[in-house]
Amino acid sequence: MNILVTGGAGFIGTHTLIELYRAGHAATVVDNLSNSNPVALQRVAEILEVGEIPFHQTDIRDREGLERIFASQHFDACIHFAGLKAVGESVEKPWEYYENNIGGTLVLIDVMRRHGCKNIIFSSSATVYGDPAEIPITERCPKGQCTNPYGWTKSMLEQVLMDIRRADAEWKVVLLRYFNPVGAHPSGRIGENPNGIPNNLMPYITQTAIGKRKELGVFGNDYPTPDGTGVRDYIHVCDLAAAHVSALQCFEPTFRHGVDGAHIYNIGTGHGYSVLDMVNAFMRVNGVNVPYSIKPRRAGDIATCYCDPGKARAELGWQARLGLDDMVRDSWRWQSMNPEGY
Ligand code: NAD
Ligand code: UD1
Repeated sequence: MNILVTGGAGFIGTHTLIELYRAGHAATVVDNLSNSNPVALQRVAEILEVGEIPFHQTDIRDREGLERIFASQHFDACIHFAGLKAVGESVEKPWEYYENNIGGTLVLIDVMRRHGCKNIIFSSSATVYGDPAEIPITERCPKGQCTNPYGWTKSMLEQVLMDIRRADAEWKVVLLRYFNPVGAHPSGRIGENPNGIPNNLMPYITQTAIGKRKELGVFGNDYPTPDGTGVRDYIHVCDLAAAHVSALQCFEPTFRHGVDGAHIYNIGTGHGYSVLDMVNAFMRVNGVNVPYSIKPRRAGDIATCYCDPGKARAELGWQARLGLDDMVRDSWRWQSMNPEGY
C-alpha cells in the first residue's frame, strides 16, 4: 500500500516507517517537526538502506499544504501519529492541545475524504479507559474520565472518527489504543528524544542512568499492587510499530472482523510491571545504577493498567514478541549511543 504517515518523524512514527518498508509498503511523511528532528528520518533511511524517506515539512492544520500532497499522489491509507503528547503541558495549554490535535485531525480527514482516501489508523491511548472498570482491560471495557486535556483529545478524536465512519460507510477506522511504549530500535540509532525533563518513566530512568538527572523519583509506594508502586503494560516500540503494519489488513476487502468499518484494538503485551520491576530490570540487564527515592503519588495516576491483547492476536495475528529485558536493553543502548538525542 501507499501510506501517508503524519507525525512520521517522531518516536513511534520512525519505528513504524521501518516496519512498513520492510513489509513492502511505500510511505510518505508529513511532520511539522514541532517535536522531532529531520536527522531521525535520515537515520531511518540509513537503517533501511534507501536513499531517503519522502518527507514534507507540513503542519496538518495547513489545508493548502495537505491538499498539494494529496493532489500529487494517491494514498491507500493514513497512519495518523501527528499530535502533541505531553500530559502536564496539556494541563497548562489546553487550547493549544485541542487546536493542534483536534483541529489538525479535522483538517486531515476532510482533505483525505476529498481525495478519496478513507482508511485511517489513529494513535489512541490506554488513557481513554480512565480508571479502568476491569483489569486486564479488554476493548469491551467502557471509556472513562480522562484526567487531562491530552487524554480528552484522544477520547474525543475516537468519537469524531467513529461518527464520521457511521455517516459514510466508505470509511474504515482503526483505533489503536497503545499502552506504554518504551525501548528503541536495536541499532541504537533511533529512539525517544524528549524535550526538557522527561515526564515518562523510561526516559527518566535512562537519563538518570547516564547522569543527566540526579535520581529517579518513584511516584508512590502505597498503591494496592504487589510492591506498592504503579503497574503498567510496557510495550517495545518495535512491537508497537509492527502492530500498525498488521492493522493495515483491516482495509483489505477480505478482512472479516469489525463492525461497520470500525476496528478497535488494545496494543500492549498483557503483562503488568511495577516501577520497581522496571528499575531493577534496567540495572540488572545493563549493569548500571539508577539511584531512586520514593516520592508522593503523582496527581492523576492510577494504580494498575494492563491490557488483554487477545483481540489483536485473534483478528490481526499480531502479538508482542519482545520482553522486558529487550525493552530495558534497547532503551539504554539508544540513550548511551546518543546522550544528547539527535
Ligand atoms: P512524538 O512527539 O515523538 O511524535 C509526534 C510527531 O507529530 C512529532 O514528530 C511532531 O513533530 C508531529 N506533530 C505534532 N503536531 C503536528 C502537526 N500539527 N502537524 C504535523 N506534525 C505534527 O510522539 P510519539 O510518542 O511518537 O507519539 C505518536 C502518537 O502516538 C501521538 O499521537 C501520541 O499522542 C500517541 N501516543 C503516544 C504514546 C507514548 O507514550 N509515546 C502513548 C499513547 C499514544
Ligand atoms: C502517561 C500518561 C498517559 C500517556 C502516557 C504515554 C499520565 C497520568 N498519564 O501514562 O496519558 O498516554 O504517559 O505518554 O500522565 N513514574 C515514576 N516516576 C517518574 C515517571 C513515572 O514513578 O519519574 C511512574 C508513574 O507513577 C507510573 C509509571 O511510572 O506508575 C509510568 O508512568 P508514565 O511513563 O508517565 O506513563 P503513564 O502514567 O502510564
